[in-house]
Amino acid sequence: MLDIQNVTKVFGKDTVNEHTALDDLSLHLDKGEFVTIVGSNGAGKSTLFNAICGTFFSDSGHISLDGADITYMPEHKRSKMIGRVFQDPMKGTSPNLTIEENIALAYARSKHGPLGFALNKRDLKIFRDALADFDMGLEDRMKTKVGLLSGGQRQVVTLLMCTVVPPKLLLLDEHTAALDPATSEKIMKITNDMIRKNNLTTLMITHNINSALKTGTRTIMMDSGSIILDISGEERDKMSLNELLDLYTRRSKKVFDNDRMLLGTE
Ligand SMILES: Nc1ncnc2c1ncn2[C@@H]1O[C@H](COP(=O)(O)OP(=O)(O)O)[C@@H](O)[C@H]1O
Ligand SMILES: [Mg+2]
Repeated sequence: MLDIQNVTKVFGKDTVNEHTALDDLSLHLDKGEFVTIVGSNGAGKSTLFNAICGTFFSDSGHISLDGADITYMPEHKRSKMIGRVFQDPMKGTSPNLTIEENIALAYARSKHGPLGFALNKRDLKIFRDALADFDMGLEDRMKTKVGLLSGGQRQVVTLLMCTVVPPKLLLLDEHTAALDPATSEKIMKITNDMIRKNNLTTLMITHNINSALKTGTRTIMMDSGSIILDISGEERDKMSLNELLDLYTRRSKKVFDNDRMLLGTE
């Protein structure tokens, strides 16, 4: 489904700030896989997502999605196939449009028709029902401007926008990190339900190692632009937080520098 081959990205080439953010990185995901990504600050996790989305072209290597080579495909074209949710609830939705209008726009964009409000009454009912299921008090606020919603509510709208037409790939970049623990837990549950229901191929960056090991089917750990650990199945099921941190220290020859992660907090 997703095939990343030997991708390298160097920022500030030939300057004093030269930094290799992705270092000959390769990763393959099968359809329906749900992979969690952990790693210290600056490991290159978000840069990996940027490379997949086409925020920049990689210096070398190839990326293909569902059999198509997207290495040089522009970002706006990839966005029709890839859903992305950021940590910041302000990103992803338009504050001056209503919930209904935001979802309609996402729908129109994914259907690669002209931009417009293309949801019919039946679609709207489906989304109102979906919102009711999420139990976030959103179903009766379809005509409310998104700017008036809480962070958690906005993340739910963004998730719904990403899945209104199921994407080939869903990228979640610490999308619950800015929320309080209770809301974060709720959004994770909604995320899991959406992924399972649509059988979405997913990459999720998280600072919560416990949640990384429990969520999805496979966990990778990044450091200095490389994947230093890739576990699934029984090996992953048996892995404890401490064992994972031990492995990190041995393989990266560093102590983990992500405090929130060490604490295992939400
Ligand atoms: N657009 C950019 N220009 C220069 N340096 C960047 C850029 N984006 C990321 N970096 C650098 O690349 C490294 C990896 O960043 P990032 O992928 O955001 O890390 P994280 O794993 O915390 O998400 C960091 O050192 C960061 O400063
Ligand atoms: Mg990041």
